[in-house]
Amino acid sequence: MNTALPNGLRVLDLYSCQGGAGMGYHLAGFDVTGVDKAPQPRYPFRFIQADAIEFVQKYGAEFDFIHASPPCQRYTMAQRIQGREHPDLIAPTRAALEATGRPWVIENVEEAAPELHAPVTLCAAVFGMRTYRHRLFETGGGFTFAPPPHRPHTAPLTKMGRPRAEGHFAHYVGNFSGVQEARDDMGVPWMNRDGIRECIPPAYTHWIGTRLYASLLEVAA
Ligand SMILES: C[S@@+](CC[C@H](N)C(=O)[O-])C[C@H]1O[C@@H](n2cnc3c(N)ncnc32)[C@H](O)[C@@H]1O
Repeated sequence: MNTALPNGLRVLDLYSCQGGAGMGYHLAGFDVTGVDKAPQPRYPFRFIQADAIEFVQKYGAEFDFIHASPPCQRYTMAQRIQGREHPDLIAPTRAALEATGRPWVIENVEEAAPELHAPVTLCAAVFGMRTYRHRLFETGGGFTFAPPPHRPHTAPLTKMGRPRAEGHFAHYVGNFSGVQEARDDMGVPWMNRDGIRECIPPAYTHWIGTRLYASLLEVAA
């Protein structure tokens, strides 16, 4: 993945965690600021510890683009198994993003599809990784993008917690085995296991960021 020269445009990376999404925008040339309610000492860019919705309501309009990855626990199998209640952050995040008047994207897991409006899916295998890691992206504020063409999933999946078998793909979720391999595969060498299981691969937002730059240039012309 080539790193673009800085383009002088600012991306706000909400629910940043350790910065998988943020890194892709950085590689596409954007100046990135992360916001997370938890401290994120591994976050590689400017970081502010704050509530994402309160922050975007106050400062969102100062940025050229806003990315939001609200936590997905509400929508996942873990929530159903644990029977825990997690707040719906997608709808209030969307409302706050719309109010900024800026272009934006909300990213989430496939289980959140009913909460998202006309999302686009990105698949890690299309970008050359040995995992599938589907993630959905809803866009707004005038920005849209097309995903690269999807390919059928043909590789068998190694069972979670076991080392990857030759020719298999892995699931980097829960207490997955092989942190270094996951770092190398997804391009997130600064992350620990907690960050990896939560992150999107930077390749996704590098793809989005490259298209975003072209779209912002068009708007400015
Ligand atoms: C799925 S992770 C984001 C992953 C990130 N996009 C990446 O690619 O590495 C969700 C993050 O949201 C944070 N979070 C949860 N509630 C929040 C809130 N109200 N405000 C800000 N951050 C919050 C969690 O601490 C967690 O780090």
